[in-house]
Amino acid sequence: MTNLYLIGNWKQHGSRAAIQAFSEQWSSDPNPQLRIAIAPPFPYLQALREALPDCQVAAQDCSVHAQGAHTGEVSADMLVDLGCQYVIVGHSERRQYHDETDALIAEKLAAAQSAGVTPILCVGEQQAAREAGKQDEVVRAQLRSALATAQPNLLIAYEPVWAIGTGLTATPDQANEMHEMIRQEVSSLLGASHATPILYGGSVNAENADALFACPHVDGSLVGGASLQAASFMAIAQSASNYLSH
Ligand code: PGA
Repeated sequence: MTNLYLIGNWKQHGSRAAIQAFSEQWSSDPNPQLRIAIAPPFPYLQALREALPDCQVAAQDCSVHAQGAHTGEVSADMLVDLGCQYVIVGHSERRQYHDETDALIAEKLAAAQSAGVTPILCVGEQQAAREAGKQDEVVRAQLRSALATAQPNLLIAYEPVWAIGTGLTATPDQANEMHEMIRQEVSSLLGASHATPILYGGSVNAENADALFACPHVDGSLVGGASLQAASFMAIAQSASNYLSH
């Protein structure tokens, strides 16, 4: 175990007052092996960076375009300019509700990598695919498409769609098995010498974090709902820290 990653995805939540309240409660055990970042909505990137200097900031999406007449879009270069370390790409909510295709996600990943912001590529199956035993097939296809022309500098988040925001979590065994499959697939696509961190996401909270971090193939977590309050996010960070100090 080298590092654990803990990324909070605030989705479309937050305000200046919420950032202020979060920062007043936030304190984390400084552990250089624990990489913590928060992904607020775009307008709050700067405020979050200033309010939480010991956390890195991440964006929730980026444009495929470097610049131009693309109203409403935010380029990966702009994210770098704002000091973003990571950008989430291909979140299931973007795939489902904003019609993002595998091809578009591959382009966003390339745009992020060429700008120098580390993409966090999300993959994961819907409930019907899991029930049909097709989860490996679905995730493998997502990886092959997104990583066909990718560079090794990325993180992957396995987020089974049926576990996001539902209170259902993959069991540690389900997460670990899928992460192992992802690890093999990624090493055959990008070259075995690159250790790509693979995070689990989907209803992670202070109660289930210990068991997930203990899985040998889980390198951290992408946390939605439980990252909105400093107390619950700090409790998950504490689980990660405890695991690292074993
Ligand atoms: P959740 O969201 O933790 O609220 O399930 C995770 C995510 O969508 O990244």
